[in-house]
Amino acid sequence: MLREARRTTVLGRLRVSNRVGVLRSDLMRVGSVDIGPGALLAPMEAVTDLPFRTICEEHGAALTYTEFLSAEALIRGAEKVVGRMWPSLGGRRFAVQVFGRDPIVVAAAAVAAAEIGACLVDINMGCPARKVTAGMCGSALMREPALAASLVRAVRAALPSNIPVTIKQRIGWNDLSINAAEFALRMVEAGAALVTVHGRTRDQGFSGPVRLASIAAVRAALPKEIPVVGNGDVKTIDDYLRMKRETGCDAVMIGRAARGNPWLFRAILALETGAPLPARPSIAEQWQVWRRHADMVVQYTNDKMRLHELRKTLAWYSRGLYGGAELRHKAFQENQPAAVLALGERFFAALHAREQSRAETGESDYPGGLAARSLARHLRRHGEGEKRCAD
Ligand SMILES: Cc1cc2nc3c(=O)[nH]c(=O)nc-3n(C[C@H](O)[C@H](O)[C@H](O)COP(=O)(O)O)c2cc1C
Repeated sequence: MLREARRTTVLGRLRVSNRVGVLRSDLMRVGSVDIGPGALLAPMEAVTDLPFRTICEEHGAALTYTEFLSAEALIRGAEKVVGRMWPSLGGRRFAVQVFGRDPIVVAAAAVAAAEIGACLVDINMGCPARKVTAGMCGSALMREPALAASLVRAVRAALPSNIPVTIKQRIGWNDLSINAAEFALRMVEAGAALVTVHGRTRDQGFSGPVRLASIAAVRAALPKEIPVVGNGDVKTIDDYLRMKRETGCDAVMIGRAARGNPWLFRAILALETGAPLPARPSIAEQWQVWRRHADMVVQYTNDKMRLHELRKTLAWYSRGLYGGAELRHKAFQENQPAAVLALGERFFAALHAREQSRAETGESDYPGGLAARSLARHLRRHGEGEKRCAD
């Protein structure tokens, strides 16, 4: 049954239903680009740099995005911004997100992104930050659908036909102006091949309830062949399934929960492909992934930012671990990258030793990382049968 479902899915992009009634498809077609199963990594400023994207890709993220890049700065050739447009390692596909409000400039930036190898170019229409909305970019575009549509049209016209243009929006500017569905439809009519919806208004920023009904309204309003990606507060397998079930979205995008927890992508990929659910990452694995992430930070981050980025990385991976708060405090007192790395090594070595000695006595400090905990919760609620969602 599993093999059959996979075969027909790959051949015919047949949608199949798993046991909790969540529709899933193994491939999502965006224009002429096929995206594999699994969750997408959200663009995040000062987070989704090359090391971060690489770690998420290696753990099963279906697609990763750069942080939003100012179209104006890209076109000016501002070194700081151009430097953030690193192609993924190993030839993996990646998306570049740009923001701006001048169609000519945004189109030129999109062409630059395509030239460095982006498989799609996303236009930011959701950023709530004042520094962006003050320039009438980001979520401010949701109040100017005509201008937003002209950006999509300009980018569509400028890009080669095999590179889709996509948008990432919110559900509206505030509670009095929820226009997610009309806005999305207008962007699709202008040429957008995929719409990601963060289920909050601009006024909500990053907190308060995520309105799944508004994401569902976008899904209902758009032609079936245009994928809708649901986004907002997906931190666990249960959140993921709920997002899919209640919105009917074609894929889910994960932002904050991926920080220090790339295993969430691995678990979602297993769920979507019917593979056995992975065990929780051991301390040894968390140690190894932190070290790989930190090594890439050392390799790809400039001298000025290295210390800051290493502290940040260690903070993400130590979240929820025994002694993590003390570690973060110490890391912020260190002034040399090598010292932060050494601190991380000592921290994980001590945890590893502790885990091993507790395993011998049958005790455990670590009920698991976030992904493992959410998997365990999901299995408790839905039963062992969910281990293979397409059986
Ligand atoms: C630190 C940070 C930076 C972000 N930067 C961007 C960005 O560059 N472009 C964008 O479209 N959204 C950005 N976002 C929003 C996320 O992509 C995402 O929509 C939001 O965090 C909700 O998803 P989550 O709950 O999974 O984090 C950012 C969010 C955070 C927390």
